[in-house]
Parts: sequence; C-alpha cells; structure tokens
Amino acid sequence: MAMRNIREDGDAILLKHSRPVTDFNRRLHTLLDDMRETLLAADGVGLAAPQVGILRRAVIVMDTNREELSPEEQIIELVNPQIVSADGEQTGQEGCLSVPGVYGIVTRPEHVVVKAQDRFGKPFTVEGTGLTARCFCHELDHLDGHLFTEIAQRILTPEELEEMNGEQE
Ligand code: NI
Repeated sequence: MAMRNIREDGDAILLKHSRPVTDFNRRLHTLLDDMRETLLAADGVGLAAPQVGILRRAVIVMDTNREELSPEEQIIELVNPQIVSADGEQTGQEGCLSVPGVYGIVTRPEHVVVKAQDRFGKPFTVEGTGLTARCFCHELDHLDGHLFTEIAQRILTPEELEEMNGEQE
C-alpha cells in the first residue's frame, strides 16, 4: 500500500466526471488499498478516487455509527455507487480533505440507501444515517465533479472555526 497525494480545490480534476469501473482487477484493489491508507492518515471520514487523481467511480466511506469497530474496519468500499433512495433532512457542518480548513453548512438527506459493487464486482446495498448518510452523498458528488462548497448555505467564519476547534480539544 502507498499513500496518494490528495488533490486540492483549484485542481481541475476535481470538477470532472468519473467513469464507471469495468475491471475489478489488481489495479482497482491497489487503488482502494491506497485510498484506505490515505484516508486513515488524513483522519478523514470519506475519500473519492478523483481526490487522488483517478477519474473512476470508486469511493470509501467510514461508517462512524459503528463505534465498536476500529477505523480500518469502519471503511466501506463502494464501486460504481448509486443512491437508490433518500429520505429525511439534516443541516450541519461539512468539510472535505480537498478543501482544507474550510467548513460549510450543508443540507443533506438524513437517511440514504446506496447500491454499489464491492472490489470483486459483487453487488450489495448499504444504508447510512446521520454523518454516514452525509458522507455517502458528499463522496458520490465527487464522482460527478461537485464539491460541497457549491451547495453550502454558507461557509463558517474564522470565529466559528475557532470555536469549533476549541470544542474538539
Ligand atoms: Ni470531499
């Protein structure tokens, strides 16, 4: 496994549309393994392939609702994911590893059901609520070249950020 460079806002690749994965081969497995390592090192909750410069429909999301699992075990790999149903609404803070230091208020569904394939091409369905639902939506947006800053109601001010960081300590 190897760490990959996370592309940042201003890099044109983040605005591009990703192509479906057609080969569930070693190249895909290496990409997913590298994305896992990169996400864990960055202490994030989700990462999409275009964020590491690969325009393929693959994302990983941490199911943070499952606190009994280790961070590594919380990671869900989604290849060619599609949201098949969404309900409810949540409005809260959102950030992105490609937009470091910026947080905005974004409204997302409270609950989503996602259909995807695993790294071997086997189809499965997964559900997410709360932060996990937010993360599914955010990562899938990356596959169509969208960043959360486009849909944020507003971006948090430096004072709000400071307050937020204070709470984390
Ligand atoms: Ni992101």
